[in-house]
Amino acid sequence: MLLRSVAAGAALLSLVSATTPASAASASVQATQRPRPTTPLSYYLWPQPSSIVDAQKVVDVSDSWLDFSSPNTQLETVIQSAYDRFAHSLEVKRANIEWSGSTFRVQVVISDHSTKGPASLVGIDESYKVQVTQSLATVTAKTQAGAVYGLQTLSQMITKDGYLRLGTITDAPRFSYRGLMLDTARNFFPVEDIKRILDGLVYSKVNVLHWHIYDSQSFPIKWDRYPQMLDATYKYDDGTPKLYTQQDVADIVDYAFQRNIRVIPEFEAADHNAVFGHINASYIVGWNHSPWDGRNGQYMNSTDQPDPANPTAALWWGGQYCNQFPCGQLDIRNPDAIAVLDHLISDIGSWFPDPVLHVGHDEVNARVYGLVPDSWDVAPSDLMYPLFAKFEPHLLQTLSKAKKQYAAWDEVIDTFNIQGILPKNALITQWQQGANNDADRVNAIAAAGFSNIVVSPSDYWYLDCSPSQNWCSTAYEQTVPAFQYNLTGYLTYPGQWHNWTYMYSYDPLWGLTPNASQAVKGGFGAMWSETLKRHNVDHYIFPRISAIAERLWSYNNTQWNDQTTPLRLERFRESLINELNIDAAALDYLGNQEGTTFKTEACDGAGLHAPGQKTSSCTDPGCPVLDSKGNPVVPPSYFAALGDYCDIAATYKTNSFAHTNPSPVPYSL
Ligand SMILES: *[C@@H]1O[C@H](CO)[C@@H](O)[C@H](O)[C@H]1NC(C)=O
Ligand SMILES: *[C@@H]1O[C@H](CO)[C@@H](O)[C@H](O)[C@H]1NC(C)=O
Ligand SMILES: *[C@@H]1O[C@H](CO)[C@@H](O)[C@H](O)[C@H]1NC(C)=O
Ligand SMILES: *[C@@H]1O[C@H](CO)[C@@H](O)[C@H](O)[C@H]1NC(C)=O
Ligand SMILES: *[C@@H]1O[C@H](CO)[C@@H](O)[C@H](O)[C@H]1NC(C)=O
Repeated sequence: MLLRSVAAGAALLSLVSATTPASAASASVQATQRPRPTTPLSYYLWPQPSSIVDAQKVVDVSDSWLDFSSPNTQLETVIQSAYDRFAHSLEVKRANIEWSGSTFRVQVVISDHSTKGPASLVGIDESYKVQVTQSLATVTAKTQAGAVYGLQTLSQMITKDGYLRLGTITDAPRFSYRGLMLDTARNFFPVEDIKRILDGLVYSKVNVLHWHIYDSQSFPIKWDRYPQMLDATYKYDDGTPKLYTQQDVADIVDYAFQRNIRVIPEFEAADHNAVFGHINASYIVGWNHSPWDGRNGQYMNSTDQPDPANPTAALWWGGQYCNQFPCGQLDIRNPDAIAVLDHLISDIGSWFPDPVLHVGHDEVNARVYGLVPDSWDVAPSDLMYPLFAKFEPHLLQTLSKAKKQYAAWDEVIDTFNIQGILPKNALITQWQQGANNDADRVNAIAAAGFSNIVVSPSDYWYLDCSPSQNWCSTAYEQTVPAFQYNLTGYLTYPGQWHNWTYMYSYDPLWGLTPNASQAVKGGFGAMWSETLKRHNVDHYIFPRISAIAERLWSYNNTQWNDQTTPLRLERFRESLINELNIDAAALDYLGNQEGTTFKTEACDGAGLHAPGQKTSSCTDPGCPVLDSKGNPVVPPSYFAALGDYCDIAATYKTNSFAHTNPSPVPYSL
């Protein structure tokens, strides 16, 4: 077997030649000086593994080398990269300590060497075993994925003093799909940020990046076929567009692959499509229409005024053209417009080797197609059916030509009545609640026959639920009337931040029918980026995604207030900061408390205004908005107070935000 010495970026690790034997003698000399561990090995591990045998001993490791070879060079690269992670962890923890410990062998044994590339990660066996003895750590796995995770676990077994804990870990995931959704459309994140996030994801044993790459606000992709799309990018101060090239995508996909992470792109279709208006305005319906997010001033079952007897009655969401500015939906009646989507799937879809492609379909608005009167709040699904019954088979055909499997948000099971058209193994991403809770919704998806469901309950696992967001809580929406909103106030309601314990408290299988339990393949945390900038993206994602990850990885989930859970997560967070330069938030972080609310980068354009309500002045077709009695809705005074969504952005400049490496923190264990 080829023995390769390794010291990744290691000033402190001396290179060991391939012929140097593991120094068992020096290890035993050191043995008497080693402290006996006082904390259980389990405290070192996140997510919790299936089984831990704690040898209650340590070994001091002055240097280590990787013992692995394979005829598959791609596999060698992946294992090397995961081993480097271990070596780096050792280096950081030993940085200030003089040791005379032993040279330590890390042996990786894989039975399946056949892995060919990123597409082969789907459904891959992720189980592994790590056995650490006095001079040898053996990571045994069926596949590279298991080996990568074994090495992540091994890197967690190093104490703060640079000792390695002895013991045996046997592990396998509870769910096969454990994801993070990242939105790069409301704010742009350069490749380096995405790579840093991927480092933290593999350390959390998260294996899917669902990349919500574009939306109505921006299209950060260099698409040579349609250079006009550059108009839909954000710009750096010098005017350079913020975008991902084909090379950038390849770089991210490869980096993710080395970390066992699939990259599933989302090509948002139908709604959230204003960007395609830059190709031809006629391809988009409702482009830049207002109002958006249109609480139109009416109370349920009431006229325009708050009911004095029931002042907190819900406002009615009628008369809007989209849920967020700028409005604009693909005109799926226009073959030329559909051809743009076809081209996107064949051109850009081919940059992503994963077999799954997500095609959005959330929050489609019926009003822009002229299907319902402006005064109707909700369109019956049979009104949308004829449009989608034509569009969807074409889309499926396009995906099939591109060798892609269909994924979409859960609207597709009932909003357009197309559930019968879709293949039952389509990946359905749940985000909405049913009549009472998330389980109701997941049960409904399964009852519609779908067998491949992943959950991202917006009331639990939306990572953007900050004080500046209020759409995360249905109860909140229904009890806090908009007239309480004002420019300083509506952005800073307390209590909307879902902390890690809240996220941890959700279990994807609670309340499910047997069929739905079978159908749920996992879940993901969703990082929408309206309130993010480069400097706080790490804070929002970590360590909350790691809390979600433990739910999805571990069979023996404890409760968050089990005394070991915060201890373990705190130690994990310290490693994210010290070893991966991830600016992970403190466990008691309560969201953005900086007194400034960050708005989508789309607001940063010079002179851009995005009035939440323009009902009395809008000139778009369909205006003015009518109430249910056919009278024009006059915006009440509190909408004047609500004002311009983007004015708030005028107090800061996006481009001045950057990631800075966090200062090291002391390790607790
Ligand atoms: C936009 O599309 C319409 C038809 O959908 C076509 O008549 C018009 O020429 C197109 N405009 C441009 C600039 O291509
Ligand atoms: C308002 O109307 C809806 C639908 O007709 C009804 O279900 C609901 O009970 C009414 N609410 C009130 C407060 O009257
Ligand atoms: C559960 O799934 C089976 C097999 O697909 C189906 O026959 C059965 O009707 C389902 N049960 C319910 C309650 O939906
Ligand atoms: C704005 O809202 C905040 C938070 O609810 C509240 O404290 C403040 O008094 C409000 N200001 C005005 C002028 O209504
Ligand atoms: C998280 O928030 C809940 C309330 O939703 C609170 O009870 C809990 O103490 C918080 N946890 C932490 C660690 O701050």
